[in-house]
Amino acid sequence: MEIREAAGLIRCPEVDGARADWCDLGCGVGIFTLALAELLEPGSAIYAVDRDRRALALLPKLHHGVSIRAVEADFTQGYALPAVSGVLMANSLHFAEDQRGMLRMARTAQARLLIVEYETSAANAFCPYPIGYARLCDELAEAGYATARRIGVRSSRFGGMMYAAWADVSPP
Ligand SMILES: C[S@@+](CC[C@H](N)C(=O)[O-])C[C@H]1O[C@@H](n2cnc3c(N)ncnc32)[C@H](O)[C@@H]1O
Repeated sequence: MEIREAAGLIRCPEVDGARADWCDLGCGVGIFTLALAELLEPGSAIYAVDRDRRALALLPKLHHGVSIRAVEADFTQGYALPAVSGVLMANSLHFAEDQRGMLRMARTAQARLLIVEYETSAANAFCPYPIGYARLCDELAEAGYATARRIGVRSSRFGGMMYAAWADVSPP
């Protein structure tokens, strides 16, 4: 996926032009990190977290005026979220066995969420804990999120559909 396509998938009014610090858990080589950077106002910051050091090394330190801070960490092992207003997980929540625990961690930090996932319940080696939109909504409610909505869908080059969802701790 290109950065422009990723930005189109996660664009929503709460993010577009906002001056805010975010955390991207499981950023990989940063397609969605850079997409988010292009949506946020310059001066914002994104903590880009991954356990893959080689992927992190490919990230720029600044993109569209947004600073990118690479953090090498395993987000399932007691990772302490920095003070951010939002957490992005693009194609990475399906690697966490305890998905509710991940969502609760973000909820405890009062963080809004942007989730990009596959619309499937079929597990495979690349998607060991699939989480389609309906189940994500259940898990978000259990974790204490007040609102969730789907903000985008697109076909995946691996087949099937991907969706992007926004969740907020406060009611609309
Ligand atoms: C499919 S890639 C997605 C990368 C990027 N978010 C995107 O959508 O282009 C999943 C990424 O999550 C990272 N990841 C998976 N489990 C992780 C964990 N427990 N802690 C940190 N990173 C993890 C992997 O190293 C990989 O870079």
